[in-house]
Amino acid sequence: MRVSGVLRLLAFIFALTTTWLFIRNYIKFSMETIRLPRWLADSALKETKVIKTKCDLSKPCPVNFFAFKICSGAANVVGPSMCFENHIIMSPVKNNVDRGLNIALVNGTTGTMMGQKTFDMYSGDVQFLVKFLKEIPEGTLVLVASYDDPGTKMTDEVRQLFSNLGSSYANQLGFRDSWVFLGAKDLKNKSPFEQFLKNNPETNKYEGWPELLEMEGCVPLKIL
Ligand SMILES: *[C@@H]1O[C@H](CO)[C@@H](O)[C@H](O)[C@H]1NC(C)=O
Repeated sequence: MRVSGVLRLLAFIFALTTTWLFIRNYIKFSMETIRLPRWLADSALKETKVIKTKCDLSKPCPVNFFAFKICSGAANVVGPSMCFENHIIMSPVKNNVDRGLNIALVNGTTGTMMGQKTFDMYSGDVQFLVKFLKEIPEGTLVLVASYDDPGTKMTDEVRQLFSNLGSSYANQLGFRDSWVFLGAKDLKNKSPFEQFLKNNPETNKYEGWPELLEMEGCVPLKIL
């Protein structure tokens, strides 16, 4: 009877100790979980302090500059998108992009959208594009994004018209190349806003297409 009494006492002490340890850890743990929302609140506060730039640019544009971002299409899967002064002017969500060359026209003085159009460069009639490019009025900004294939139906006349807008790569644009460009009607120099990736099976990111291109920048009012 005595021995079992001692064992019972030891068992009681053991239970008491483990309970105490458990409670101590539990309280520590719950104090941490109480602290968590405050930490979350702090980081949420920090995030609201970050200035949101137009078109989500990495840094804001100076006064008298327009913010823009142009993304080419990804292979033949995801369509291109264009943002100008925080307005999405062409995108798959807006349902106004397609395979070929996606072109948007913006007034270079006011930054207002003038129109946008897609030209099928694989099987379309390139004369529509020639007419479109020839009719662009002076002082117009021209934003271009490729999707899938911008080059099959390309002609020397179209290359020259894009070169006149300030393009450096239009003269070598070919089948399934990636191309993003911002130029202007009667630009005297080459535009600094252009990126180009040649379709090359050795270096392509996707099987039949190069990496998509993303270009952001600040274009001064009246680029001329
Ligand atoms: C741009 O807007 C200005 C002011 O409204 C206008 O005078 C000019 O003709 C426009 N330019 C183009 C190319 O539409």
